[in-house]
Amino acid sequence: MTTPPDSDLTAMQRAVQRTWTPDSHWHIGDLAWQSPSLPDRTVKLWRGSDGEVEAWARLTAPAHLDMHAPPELLPAVLDWFHATTGEVEQTVTAMNSDAELIAALRAAGYQEAAEPFFQHCVRDLDGHLPKPVLPSGYRVRTVEPGELAARAAVHRAAWRPKWIGSLQVPPVDLGDGESGMTTERYAKIADTWPYRRDLDLVVEAPDGTLAASALGWYDDVNQSALLEPVGTDPHHARRGLGAAVSLACLHAMRDAGATLAVVCPRGDDAYPVPRTLYHRIGFRDAGRTVAYRR
Ligand SMILES: CC(C)(COP(=O)(O)OP(=O)(O)OC[C@H]1O[C@@H](n2cnc3c(N)ncnc32)[C@H](O)[C@@H]1OP(=O)(O)O)[C@@H](O)C(=O)NCCC(=O)NCCS
Repeated sequence: MTTPPDSDLTAMQRAVQRTWTPDSHWHIGDLAWQSPSLPDRTVKLWRGSDGEVEAWARLTAPAHLDMHAPPELLPAVLDWFHATTGEVEQTVTAMNSDAELIAALRAAGYQEAAEPFFQHCVRDLDGHLPKPVLPSGYRVRTVEPGELAARAAVHRAAWRPKWIGSLQVPPVDLGDGESGMTTERYAKIADTWPYRRDLDLVVEAPDGTLAASALGWYDDVNQSALLEPVGTDPHHARRGLGAAVSLACLHAMRDAGATLAVVCPRGDDAYPVPRTLYHRIGFRDAGRTVAYRR
């Protein structure tokens, strides 16, 4: 078992790890991937008598709550959220399988909102796992030391708003901006437990540039693997790179000890491509997120 360093982030990750099941909202890797934005959020921790974090709340302005809490701490977390945000429209994301949280939200006056949602998909890693197949001239490998600028750039290429908008149904013009990923931001992520370079996979194009990427996060306590995120530079789209780099990452996580993999694409009809890709490589739908509003 790897031991994380001490910080609020790792205390939050440990809380998630201690109670993780395939139905869980959060994986330790989600919190690591999202960690660069943590300083911009209001975070509140609830500790038990042993000092361990049992519940946490993470607030996105103006009033959106992401949280992790055992049933007995749900009232305290929601009370804190309501007191902190005041008389504004408040939203909370829950998993559809989290009956206690949903009951607490309904009791507090929340109603389900018809919004885009994330569909958690799972795949066993102990059975047959197809080998990645790449077009001629491409190769898949781990990211190399000193390659963070190129690694951040291939992520940016896949997440360019114009391209994301073109994959929507119907297509949406999201403008000419850039994804917020920078080399510095990627370096922070690569410095965050439990990042492992052997689970950070890229596809190299015939000209030596990076064409696609997949980042894996392994929880060695629960032997669970999270794929987050996957991206292909649109110049190389639809050649099987997204599927191949995802499979290569799943092989690496299985080699590390993972028996189950999770990936969380959008599940609503407006952004269907990633979920289609993951279903093609053996993932099946599990729980989904639901937005609640009051
Ligand atoms: C999703 C993404 C990674 C797919 O990458 P890709 O290398 O083009 O995908 P592949 O060529 O491996 O496609 C695998 C399957 O996914 C589906 N697919 C991929 N792109 C598609 C598209 N534009 N329209 C419809 N289906 C598509 C198809 O079923 C495809 O199989 P097929 O070509 O044999 O029909 C890429 O579009 C991307 O980076 N998107 C933006 C970032 C993103 O949304 N990442 C996923 C976050 S969870």
